[in-house]
Amino acid sequence: MKVLVIGGGAREHALCRSLSLDPDVNALYCAPGNAGIAEVAELRPVDALDGAAVARLATELGADLVVVGPEAPLVAGVSDAVRAAGIPVFGPSAQAAQLEGSKAFAKDVMAAADVPTARSYVCTTPEEVDTALDAFGAPYVVKDDGLAAGKGVVVTEDRAAARAHALGCDRVVIEEYLDGPEVSLFAITDGVTVVPLQPAQDFKRALDGDEGPNTGGMGAYSPLPWADPKLVDEVMESVLQPTVDELRHRGTPFSGLLYAGLAITSRGVRVIEFNARFGDPETQVVLARLRTPLAGVLLNAANGTLDTQPPLRWSADAAVTVVIASHNYPETPRTGDPIEGLAEVAAEDAPDAYVLHAGTRREGAAVVSAGGRVLSVTATGSDLAQAREKAYKSVARIRLDGSQHRTDIAAKAAEGR
Ligand code: AMP
Ligand code: GLY
Repeated sequence: MKVLVIGGGAREHALCRSLSLDPDVNALYCAPGNAGIAEVAELRPVDALDGAAVARLATELGADLVVVGPEAPLVAGVSDAVRAAGIPVFGPSAQAAQLEGSKAFAKDVMAAADVPTARSYVCTTPEEVDTALDAFGAPYVVKDDGLAAGKGVVVTEDRAAARAHALGCDRVVIEEYLDGPEVSLFAITDGVTVVPLQPAQDFKRALDGDEGPNTGGMGAYSPLPWADPKLVDEVMESVLQPTVDELRHRGTPFSGLLYAGLAITSRGVRVIEFNARFGDPETQVVLARLRTPLAGVLLNAANGTLDTQPPLRWSADAAVTVVIASHNYPETPRTGDPIEGLAEVAAEDAPDAYVLHAGTRREGAAVVSAGGRVLSVTATGSDLAQAREKAYKSVARIRLDGSQHRTDIAAKAAEGR
């Protein structure tokens, strides 16, 4: 099978790594990719937001499957263009991707499908904003309706700040505050059949102890020893299957990866958000534990034959990933700094620990930083404590001037807290 992956972050590196280990994959391409992905896949330049260009590339390469990684191409209709060219694609249509592209659309789908989520108002005027803020009280949760690369959500005790964020958006969702731990649960679906993956937890704040600003994600781990063993079944029944059914009944079936961001509240599980693609960095730890070869599963989802998929097999190991970010992330990050120590990790720590590249590029013989999140150091071990130890041992070998990482990824869970 020839597979083309669209994107160039650590999630796509994790996808390409798994696909490169799949005996059914005999050619693997990534567009545009990054310096790390180049070691497992052949890179091609492409404007990932240009559906016609992606479809042309897939046709030229003779791809049997295209996997679209990030949300922006999905919302821009890249899957539709590839599908129209007659090539199986893993990733929802632009219409189904509105589940991530519009918070108001997601709320409407959840209401129709009776999926538990925070009570909310969709507001377009200052009067509606004031009414909604007063209805829920502090802490205020204010979400820009559209895609905002993780920067659209403000959670604050400060009413003036909540109001200012709301008035800066054309359309805004204001909702009830949900407390309790967060879980990311991914499911692969062909629009009818839904196959859940293993749950993971990510760390959204920049600093240890969940302090500092929100980021795209600073680390993740799986499994979740503290979670109710029935959690996956419960979320399948109350969230994932009803959402997939609702979108099919609307004539816009969702096929691809449905990501449920959940809060485990005292009153039960609630959906915080849906995403229409693999999450980053949770994908790094979930795929580290998946034993079933990946390409066939994604192809079954793309072809509408997921009902023929044998049950997924999982490693008993735990996995931890730690993100190394550049100086000043999540504000305007500094880029172009050389990264050292990659060869030491490969020589000393593989295969239990390895480096997945997020924002990197090659400059002559050197690999330099090229984005906010630069690397995602991933490790597996017999339990979370061991996986954590191995991940941080590899993190310590990496030298990148001014870089930052959290030191407490999976720490509480590893200690049974
Ligand atoms: P989202 O982009 O919707 O995932 O929101 C980003 C982060 O904001 C989430 O991971 C939560 O930590 C927080 N958040 C979003 N919605 C709520 C809510 N209703 N209550 C509490 N925290 C929330
Ligand atoms: N880990 C959060 C996200 O992928 O959106």
